Amino acid sequence: MQFSDFDIDLFLRDYWQKKPLLIRNPWKAWENPLEPDELAGLACEEGVESRLVVQTGENWALEHGPFPEDRFGNLGAAPWTLLVQAVDHYAPDVAALLDPFRFIPNWRIDDVMVSYASDGGGVGPHFDQYDVFLIQGLGKRRWRVGPRCDDATPLRPHADLRLLADFEATGDWVLEPGDMLYVPPGFAHDGVAVGEDCMTYSIGFRAPSRHDLIVEWTEQLVEDMTDDDRYADPDLTSAVHPGEIAPAAIDRLHTMTIEKLLDRDAFARWFGQHHSAPKYAEADWRPEEPVTVADLQALTGDGAVLLRNPASRFAFLREADGLLLFADGNAFPCAGVAAAMAERICAQDHLILDPSLSEAMALLTALINQGSLMVDEEEED
Ligand code: SIN
Ligand code: CO
Repeated sequence: MQFSDFDIDLFLRDYWQKKPLLIRNPWKAWENPLEPDELAGLACEEGVESRLVVQTGENWALEHGPFPEDRFGNLGAAPWTLLVQAVDHYAPDVAALLDPFRFIPNWRIDDVMVSYASDGGGVGPHFDQYDVFLIQGLGKRRWRVGPRCDDATPLRPHADLRLLADFEATGDWVLEPGDMLYVPPGFAHDGVAVGEDCMTYSIGFRAPSRHDLIVEWTEQLVEDMTDDDRYADPDLTSAVHPGEIAPAAIDRLHTMTIEKLLDRDAFARWFGQHHSAPKYAEADWRPEEPVTVADLQALTGDGAVLLRNPASRFAFLREADGLLLFADGNAFPCAGVAAAMAERICAQDHLILDPSLSEAMALLTALINQGSLMVDEEEED
């Protein structure tokens, strides 16, 4: 899927993280990448995160998947919507929807959520903490957007859904297949299906909170600390007032506390590794039989193709003598051919296994054996 009519630089300058934008069909040729039945099928699978919202009058009921297969045939007349998270992990055509958004770095991308709604269905007026592109896949949806909200914005009393108590629209549009609405973090929005068979694809981003950064980075730092690494004052002089905590003592304590936090290189390595960890830690994508360097070497030259696992997260840091590749929470130092290959695999979803990659075979083998890359069996035949 490619854009034919979308000015990326203008978008970044005037809208990204700033204000909502309606983009009428910017695609070369829009094709809905997933059938409603396939979405329902995913919602019945163990390990796939899904939700069902059924609205009866003013009552919004939320159920979590996996759902029994007959659940969607028994829904009655009340408007409902099914939402499935990270569909890009399971459906390559949905993963391909991310390609045109690669002008935003990999580490900011979260997943593609897909929703299916019956006439009148939606999740109600709310705001999210993240940027989102809402792409209309099939059918029509009326989207209204409102002002920017925050923690003080009043919510309706509801145990699980964070619905806004008041919603005043500043924009109101009906989206048709291929149309796209960008909503920055915090902006109120409400999408209601107009007619049956309404499918919406949410390209969702992520932005770490300061709270999580500090908690998670310090969690890592304290792992290596020992009990005998303590405050010491062999230079102590007689106290001026026994009650005073002297400025020099505070300086020393403060330094002890922040010194390691200020190690920018250690932070960069931790962040890359931590932020490339898979979205679902329990998913195991490793091959049944581990491959060896010799197995891979034997495939080179035959036009064999390696595919990036759409559920995998890839990013890198440039270093003085190459780069540090992060894939699914592991770090791989790369130089020369391997570094060039690492850059390529971070930017594209496949790699042709040609003989020029022979120096990178150990790295490729490791990536295959941890489930981040896979040999394209179709190409091999
Ligand atoms: C939807 O697809 O119905 C909901 C997406 C959203 O508002 O975040
Ligand atoms: Co939303």
